[in-house]
Amino acid sequence: MAILFLPSPRFHDIWLFSLHDLPPQYNKPAMSDSPTSPVFVLNGPNLNQLGTRQPEIYGTQTLAEIEAMVSAQASKLGLTVDFRQTNHEGVLIDWIQEARHKACGIILNAASLTHTSVGLFDAIVAAEKPLFEVHLSNPYAREAFRHKSYVSAVAKGVICGLGPQGYLHALDALARHLNEKK
Ligand code: DQA
Repeated sequence: MAILFLPSPRFHDIWLFSLHDLPPQYNKPAMSDSPTSPVFVLNGPNLNQLGTRQPEIYGTQTLAEIEAMVSAQASKLGLTVDFRQTNHEGVLIDWIQEARHKACGIILNAASLTHTSVGLFDAIVAAEKPLFEVHLSNPYAREAFRHKSYVSAVAKGVICGLGPQGYLHALDALARHLNEKK
């Protein structure tokens, strides 16, 4: 099953199950989203093992192959990407902080940290950048502990269950968002 969520005013009404009524400042637009800055495409723990890790869930494409797809799509859209992966929560938080000054927007697959990290939530709020959340699988069709996302509450949109294509949809959505803001 695939779920594609794009920015919609109703998004938070429907999907904020555990992080209820966030004040509006948590979803305010970014301050300086110059499309001349790269899109930060950030990947969390264990995504370096794509290709061999549970291929029945995550597919057979490696992260390097996904990076190549994302870079090709970005150049079609007139964007550049800075594509990274880490297994460490603090490093991911450092990169989100860096994005505040260096990126036009963020595409984030925080992997397992999605479901656990208040630090990530706080960093995303502080970064004030448009952020699209991506998951290769559909966490809502999996174990209950994957049904909570600390990222969704502060994301412009959430794309899950579409495999690597989800990254491309996120890039399209971010490009559209940046163009609307021009
Ligand atoms: C994931 C889903 C997460 O629940 C999981 O912990 C991951 C990958 C995905 O892309 O489907 O590591 O983010």
